[in-house]
Amino acid sequence: MKEELPLERTLFIVKPDAVERNLIGKILAHVEDRGFRIVEARLGPIAREEAERFYAEHRGKPFFLDLLDYMTSGPVMLTCLEREGAVRGLREVVGATDPKEAAPGTVRQLFGLSKQMNSVHASDSPASASREVELFFGAQALAR
Ligand code: CMP
Repeated sequence: MKEELPLERTLFIVKPDAVERNLIGKILAHVEDRGFRIVEARLGPIAREEAERFYAEHRGKPFFLDLLDYMTSGPVMLTCLEREGAVRGLREVVGATDPKEAAPGTVRQLFGLSKQMNSVHASDSPASASREVELFFGAQALAR
């Protein structure tokens, strides 16, 4: 019998490199085709302070300042996606951080340019998903 997974929400970002290359539609179609429903969306730039809070766990890493520059270099498509088992499921659809190591057919393998310019972000755990969805869309976006 197929296991029932809980309905979850997770944060998905189409990053500046992909927005710049006109890939929003293709990438959102890719996740919609895999059963994810877009329940919140916002297209536009993010403030440096927002990016710093969002990536707080990476503060101090060698790529942190470059990451902030990149994420504020142009508009991003922020979305909250819903599906059964959304958090883990979206990580599988997105693939490894480095597009060169991402499995065939994953978003990053198909569209990513480099470890930094890897086209998309997906929350890495249910706790991160709650924190990240709330950061960009407010606590009401966590309600079902
Ligand atoms: P993301 O899944 O959004 O989480 C942190 C981001 O930092 C990651 O995607 C990449 O964009 C970036 N990143 C992670 N590791 C490296 C690295 N070694 N060099 C440059 N950028 C990185």
